[in-house]
Amino acid sequence: PSDLPRDRLGRALHDLRLSVIEACNFRCPYCMPAERVPDDYGLDAASRLSFDEIERLVRGFVRVGVRKLRITGGEPLLRKRLPELIARLAAIEGLDDIALTTNGSLLAAQARALHEAGLHRVTVSLDTLDPAQFAALSGGRGDLAEVLRGIDAARAAGFAKIKLNCVVQRGINDDQALPLTAFARTHGHTLRFIEYMDVGTCNDWDATRVVPSAELRDILHARWPLHPLGPQYRGEVAARHAFDDGGGEVGFVSSISAPFCGDCHRARVSADGRLYTCLFAGEGTDLRPWLGDDAFDARLAALWRGRGDRYSELRSGHVAPRKRVEMFLVGG
Ligand code: GTP
Ligand code: 5AD
Ligand code: SF4
Ligand code: SF4
Repeated sequence: PSDLPRDRLGRALHDLRLSVIEACNFRCPYCMPAERVPDDYGLDAASRLSFDEIERLVRGFVRVGVRKLRITGGEPLLRKRLPELIARLAAIEGLDDIALTTNGSLLAAQARALHEAGLHRVTVSLDTLDPAQFAALSGGRGDLAEVLRGIDAARAAGFAKIKLNCVVQRGINDDQALPLTAFARTHGHTLRFIEYMDVGTCNDWDATRVVPSAELRDILHARWPLHPLGPQYRGEVAARHAFDDGGGEVGFVSSISAPFCGDCHRARVSADGRLYTCLFAGEGTDLRPWLGDDAFDARLAALWRGRGDRYSELRSGHVAPRKRVEMFLVGG
């Protein structure tokens, strides 16, 4: 309907990325480095939105235009009784898609319950197939074999198309592009390479560590020729490419070399109920006070109408450090 809000750049609100927990059992150096984020980091459970609050919040977002929901963290599978929450959200009329982004470490135990609860899709972060490199890239917390078991369990549980996310860092895991692609092709998973981003304030981001997607695409193309595919939906984050030999597809998320703010229809909500209108927003707006209220929809619509974020398009012009929300609070 025409009364759905559009932001200052004419963008509708279509996707919600909802964090259900700020804690994580990994300490990936590009997100939550161990020397910056203590082991026991996390809100007390009472500061997190309850399942009732989350359901009310998502219903409100759907009334204001959201059709697609992605559950994130921290690590979302650390949230107790998550399948129960998924089942409640899957029952919401008007939501076409419910997906989950996870580090995969707890997936083997939960894949079946998540699928039975009505989750549509899972995306697993997988930066490397080298066990020692994997341990390092998870801050010494992760076990590659466990994550691979989680991916297999997800497939066995009925998730037909699994996406794998690889954040590429030059000199760290850029040697993994071909091995990971071979792995994804063999198993029929959709791999996406993500340019290392300057999210949050913890990761000491440095532009020399970014591997532009075009460079990776050339490396892949030389081994398995590729051709570009159109987006599956307007504003899709990953640019899709298919292998000429029918071996599936691969995606590139190029927030640094080819920003996609013009089509950004995503809102983010942290586990404590704050709305962030950009992955790089400094401040969030607490939605909790509005949750019990009939005025929630109008408040949300007004916040969306005021949105003018396009950080990735402005990035190159920014010199001074600015306040930014942490990656693990808004789940990417
Ligand atoms: P689907 O297309 O629904 O499968 O999901 P997705 O690719 O949007 O979600 P996913 O959680 O797998 O995110 C992939 C990568 O894109 C992550 O590194 C995210 O941080 C990044 N990303 C997602 N949305 C945005 C965005 O709006 N802006 C920027 N700069 N990066 C984003
Ligand atoms: N740059 C790019 N992607 C990142 N992710 C976490 N931190 C960064 C970063 N600095 C990825 C995770 C996960 C996704 C939600 O975001 O690996 O796959
Ligand atoms: Fe945890 Fe994901 Fe951040 Fe790694 S990237 S520390 S798995 S939230
Ligand atoms: Fe959207 Fe902000 Fe990412 Fe641009 S930088 S695509 S506005 S979340």
